Amino acid sequence: MYSTFQRLNHLSSLATTYVMILLGLISIASFLSLPEVDAGRIDVKDIILQKGRLRRWGAREEELASLRFDIRTDLNPLLKSYNTKQLFLYMTASYPEYDPSSGSVREQHDVVLWDRIVQRADIRDIRAVGKKIPAGKGKKGRGNIRVEEGKNKYMWTNPSGTFRDVPSANLTLHYSLMPYVGVLSSGIAATAQGPITLPEVLKR
Ligand SMILES: *[C@@H]1O[C@H](CO)[C@@H](O)[C@H](O)[C@H]1NC(C)=O
Repeated sequence: MYSTFQRLNHLSSLATTYVMILLGLISIASFLSLPEVDAGRIDVKDIILQKGRLRRWGAREEELASLRFDIRTDLNPLLKSYNTKQLFLYMTASYPEYDPSSGSVREQHDVVLWDRIVQRADIRDIRAVGKKIPAGKGKKGRGNIRVEEGKNKYMWTNPSGTFRDVPSANLTLHYSLMPYVGVLSSGIAATAQGPITLPEVLKR
């Protein structure tokens, strides 16, 4: 004869097994039906290169790049998915640095310039991602990401201290989708129209 405790134990382990199977199925289903996103666009307003020091004791003087940009992209397909918990958006600059003597690529760089977390609760007014939109304004229920006059959140510097051997860079807005259950997936949310060119260093 089984004791009550043994029965309960058996029942709860059975329940756990069913829940695990269910979660497994949900994660497989959402992995197989990953929403498609049309990459939106990043418009670079301006880009400035100047000499300065990062705010850190003993920092050397180096070239700092700062830029302003607009982003427009439609992430409705991602945000409408029932299994989307949150999105992590991050913009990178990727660029090769050339060796001036041989002309070959010395190093490939990938730098994160800006990021933002979009919660599921933000779906109702995603425009808040850019500037603060007064309550009542902005379209409800649309996963349109708009960033106006965004600035790089992280200082863009080059390990060598100069952008002399960096003619241009590609800007890309990536997303990582964090689901309630299952694996992280990622993709491209927006790109700039062609590589951006780095300007001359501003003289002070
Ligand atoms: C930018 O991306 C394009 C397409 O992938 C590539 O051909 C080009 O070399 C890239 N430019 C830079 C500066 O990384």
